[in-house]
Amino acid sequence: MNSSLLERTLSAFRTHFDVVPHCVVQAPGRVNLIGEHTDYNDGFVLPCAIGFGTLVAATRRSDNQVHVVAADYDHQLDCFDLDQPITQRSDAPWANYVRGVVVMLLEHGLPLRGANLAIAGDVPQGAGLSSSASLEVAVGQAFKSLLSLDSLDATALALLAQRAENRFVGCNCGIMDQLISARGESGHALLIDCRTLDARPVPIPAGLAVMILHSRVRRGLVESEYNTRRQQCEAAAQHCKVLALRDLDLELLLQRCADLDPVVLRRARHIVTENQRTLDAADALERSDLQHLGALMEQSHASMRDDFEITVPAIDHLVDIVSAVIGAQGGARMTGGGFGGCVVALMPLAQVDTVRAAVHAQYRSPDGEHALVYVTDASAGAGILA
Ligand code: GLA
Repeated sequence: MNSSLLERTLSAFRTHFDVVPHCVVQAPGRVNLIGEHTDYNDGFVLPCAIGFGTLVAATRRSDNQVHVVAADYDHQLDCFDLDQPITQRSDAPWANYVRGVVVMLLEHGLPLRGANLAIAGDVPQGAGLSSSASLEVAVGQAFKSLLSLDSLDATALALLAQRAENRFVGCNCGIMDQLISARGESGHALLIDCRTLDARPVPIPAGLAVMILHSRVRRGLVESEYNTRRQQCEAAAQHCKVLALRDLDLELLLQRCADLDPVVLRRARHIVTENQRTLDAADALERSDLQHLGALMEQSHASMRDDFEITVPAIDHLVDIVSAVIGAQGGARMTGGGFGGCVVALMPLAQVDTVRAAVHAQYRSPDGEHALVYVTDASAGAGILA
């Protein structure tokens, strides 16, 4: 974890609360290697936690107030009382992630007490790297560590964080982002079964670089398009008489798709084929079969572009530039919810500089900006830092 981030968190804490924090916790952002929009279809995803995250410094209070300072928002302060109804704040959207998690912890029957919190993060925002999940999980982890809430394991924490986002913030996301933020393992991606929440750690082979390329395309319409995709997937599952699209393979989908709207059929085909690609990609990664992994990433991108229609031209172009350099030694695809954001690429470490140079020379966002390129380690999930 970045030392200046820790310093910013501690300094905000000292300035506002004038004591030493009892603990500092962290929760990472994530990058999804493959398995897009499959999580809310009870399917499979293969994300890893990244070296960017959110830190929360925390101490108990003797009353039932929660005081939160946001180092990244001009040290704005949010104060609320655990014994009063906790409502949304329209003037400070960041505060709703904190409030939402507290509300869900309370609803879950956990014995919360007052706390002072200082928060700082370095996950690029609006990039599709789950800065909000990282904030939610970090806040939950802070209360868990501060109050020794041992019954709250990492999966339960992730579910409460997701519920906060669904019910309090009002975004209808799946479980992937919160789950990998809570349960990530250093040096590993996790193959998560989003129905059972079982997760199989898959080691990232030594010598393989995980590169994230931020296209700097401003993400528009993300929420409305996301919700439309969810509805289309649910409609397809209902039409095919299954609980979720996870329960179909391509053959069954084609058998049952008579009279299905052609757009909805393409949405369903993305999910059904993406689930299989994700299972295959986990095996390929485990065997260090980069050629097969790269082919699966390429197919995943094409399926997101043509069937699920969540990519944008600048992202497609960025994927083409990166793929052309990597060749058969890895792969690249858009990652996250879509309509902008980031590309993830896997390649031998020796190719990193060449890819950077090609992207610098050939890519500009619609606003004329260069892509931001990060090479990240697969990090551990949420926990106590100090
Ligand atoms: C967003 C959501 C996740 C997931 C991805 C797409 O990140 O928060 O739950 O649906 O989009 O894979």
